[in-house]
Amino acid sequence: MPKVLSQSAPSQTPVSSPAPEPRLPSPLPAPPTTQAGVPVPDCDVIVFGGTGDLAMRKLLPALWHRDREGQLPGSARIIAVSRSEASDTDYRDQVGAVVGPAVATDDEAAFVRFAHRLHHVTLDATGEPARDPGWSALTDLLRGGDERVRVFYLATAPQLFGPVSRGLQAAGLVTPLSRVVLEKPIGWDLASARAINDEVGEVFDESQVFRIDHYLGKETVQNLLVLRFANTLLEPLWNSSWIDHVQITAAETVGTGDRSGYYDGSGALRDMVQNHLLQLLCLVAMEPPGRLDRDAVRDEKLKVLQALRPMAAGDVARCTVRGQYRAGAVDGEPVPGYSTELGTLSDTETFVALKTEVQNWRWAGVPFYLRTGKRLHKRTSEIVVQFKPVPHSVFPEQTGQMIANRLVIHLQPNESVRLLMMTKEPGPGGLRLRPAPLNLSFADTFGTRFPDAYERLLMDVVRGNPTLFMRRDEVEAAWEWAEPILHGWQGSGEPPRPYHAGTPGPAAAIALIERDGRTWHEDHEEEPSL
Ligand code: BG6
Repeated sequence: MPKVLSQSAPSQTPVSSPAPEPRLPSPLPAPPTTQAGVPVPDCDVIVFGGTGDLAMRKLLPALWHRDREGQLPGSARIIAVSRSEASDTDYRDQVGAVVGPAVATDDEAAFVRFAHRLHHVTLDATGEPARDPGWSALTDLLRGGDERVRVFYLATAPQLFGPVSRGLQAAGLVTPLSRVVLEKPIGWDLASARAINDEVGEVFDESQVFRIDHYLGKETVQNLLVLRFANTLLEPLWNSSWIDHVQITAAETVGTGDRSGYYDGSGALRDMVQNHLLQLLCLVAMEPPGRLDRDAVRDEKLKVLQALRPMAAGDVARCTVRGQYRAGAVDGEPVPGYSTELGTLSDTETFVALKTEVQNWRWAGVPFYLRTGKRLHKRTSEIVVQFKPVPHSVFPEQTGQMIANRLVIHLQPNESVRLLMMTKEPGPGGLRLRPAPLNLSFADTFGTRFPDAYERLLMDVVRGNPTLFMRRDEVEAAWEWAEPILHGWQGSGEPPRPYHAGTPGPAAAIALIERDGRTWHEDHEEEPSL
């Protein structure tokens, strides 16, 4: 048991002892507020899949950090729902083992308070709605709390979104103040996404449905909106007259690990491209919304998705590359290939690179190159906006050294925005030109801990702000565009191209961009900051 959980709360019952608790803890005297001053309502967060990978790795740590910052009201409860036969005490210990090691000594009392918020309900949601005895246990726990915000977070396979929603309805747990959070991917193709949205829509109104894409909660992704719309500098250049192309990369060094069961039925296109990468593309390409409210932003993103050049059958072979990692070495450590990790041969892709276009007045003729993969040579997520070269060089002897301006938005790690400029190398002996970045490093400038994306998004759900969540029509438009790629791959019968773990992916991905006379951006092309 972690040290923090073996301690007692100041003048309270020890966390690990099963002492009787009031059904609804009484709130703290002063309601906590967000930074924006919007009060956080009393709430219960009910996590289906509460012992799973996402809950343990992301959701519980996120809730802990928000609680530690004083954002959760005193009466807030976190109720994990899973099939495991765990008591509240067992669950608190499980969470303590995951979150506890990161708790600083002076936070221990706060962590004990957090642990008191945790409950566990054993429930199998796959059966007949509300038949499992777990539904009565959940109902008992929530009884009397209809005036509180209820967040049902479905951190489960998408096949369960419908059954869980029906179960909640049958148990009478859906109130006007209830919200449901659906983890991506929503379905595995357009038809399944529609069916899931329909099923959930029979229970929850669209305004109660929060489809989460955690990339939208990342600091640098939010900063993209600020960069574009709180500065006058970029917007006049943000079009096909000045921009040559855009690259969006989400590269990981990790493999599929414990998630290979889920991942093998999904693959990189469904896992990363259909949602995270397309959402980033939308934020780069969308028109300025009239205001930052729930629908204005999502309306603009939808227009981008609808303007993506459809992938015709012939385009799939020409404009996409899929790959799968073989054994190799990452960070000097040997790692097995995907099929060895999975324990069976598979044609699931762990890498995708593709080229698309946004067919509208602003972006006509500007290619957008997207790539993502697992077990690559480095972890990096970035958006690169490559400007066009100068129309005429007044430095004829230096023309070979001239590099066109490039804006690099580094989402992770080392969040930064860098604008690559040509500069004069200091010293006499003629004009020697050299590219160097204007560098806005978030760590150097703000020097704070950046909250994990889930922290912001979870609080947005509790406060009822859906601006950063995907609307039904967005998800379906994204599937409509992505599905022909899946069909094209299936129809071709070709297996994914192999690449060694620890490399930048299959050679064909490099050829995809080099055919157009361009190259993928690599950090080392940039000199140290000015
Ligand atoms: C998840 C995918 O949505 O995003 C994972 O399911 C992926 O496969 C993860 O590893 C990447 O997120 P991040 O925040 O680490 O870039």
